[in-house]
Amino acid sequence: MKERIDVWNQQFENATPVDVMAWFASEYRGSVVFSSSLSIEDQLITYLIAHRRLEISLFTLDTGRLFQETYDLLDITEKKYGIKMAVFFPEASQVEEMVNNKGVNLFYESVENRKLCCHIRKIEPLRRALKGMSVWITGLRREQSVTRKDLKLLEWDQNHAIVKLNPLLEMTQEELWAHIEINHIPVNPLHHQGYPSIGCYPCTRAIAPGEDVRAGRWWWELPQYKECGLHQ
Ligand code: ADX
Ligand code: SF4
Repeated sequence: MKERIDVWNQQFENATPVDVMAWFASEYRGSVVFSSSLSIEDQLITYLIAHRRLEISLFTLDTGRLFQETYDLLDITEKKYGIKMAVFFPEASQVEEMVNNKGVNLFYESVENRKLCCHIRKIEPLRRALKGMSVWITGLRREQSVTRKDLKLLEWDQNHAIVKLNPLLEMTQEELWAHIEINHIPVNPLHHQGYPSIGCYPCTRAIAPGEDVRAGRWWWELPQYKECGLHQ
């Protein structure tokens, strides 16, 4: 599949997000998976999958440190769309060892500690979630950060040996909100309280008007370090 990436990028250059997902869902039936963090991007993708009844399985990574509002949204979304999202947890023994050695709030102490926590709580469960799958759909958008400006609609993810599809890559924040509102898609109430980008509770803060949308994620780190490793 790796060698077809360039061809697909040309083929789907002007395709809508739902059409490109539909094509892969039918071409790679049973082998397309979508990872949702319950963000606005992910809520739109979930809506499109449910609305068009695409054969795409959904999962979320529960780090154990999410906001209560995120758990509530998961519950509301499953009920509203009659779907099931598989929930992947970190390995308990790895979390125990890390917390007992380095403390419950280790992530504030160094980039290295923060990456370890993200590795145990997200990357390792992600590896299990993607196992045996051919296509991985994400809600990444180019606008989101400096680390995402060079992404392509389709990428080859070397770490997991999987095709990565970013259907909302070119969508602007304004367009995204318009889709959310027109289709009455449920979103995290924290978005209306200064949290445009939401991750784990201890690593996310509200931003002030005019600040970068991801300024509240790992706010104590420099922008070039602000990836948890899911997308590297
Ligand atoms: S992160 O790298 O900073 O944490 P971000 O929150 O922007 O990522 O989300 C980007 C994409 O990564 C989401 O659209 C989703 O596909 C995936 N993702 C991030 N966090 C999770 C999660 N907890 N569970 C499942 N997918 C996730
Ligand atoms: Fe740990 Fe923070 Fe990464 Fe969540 S975002 S896994 S709490 S370091």
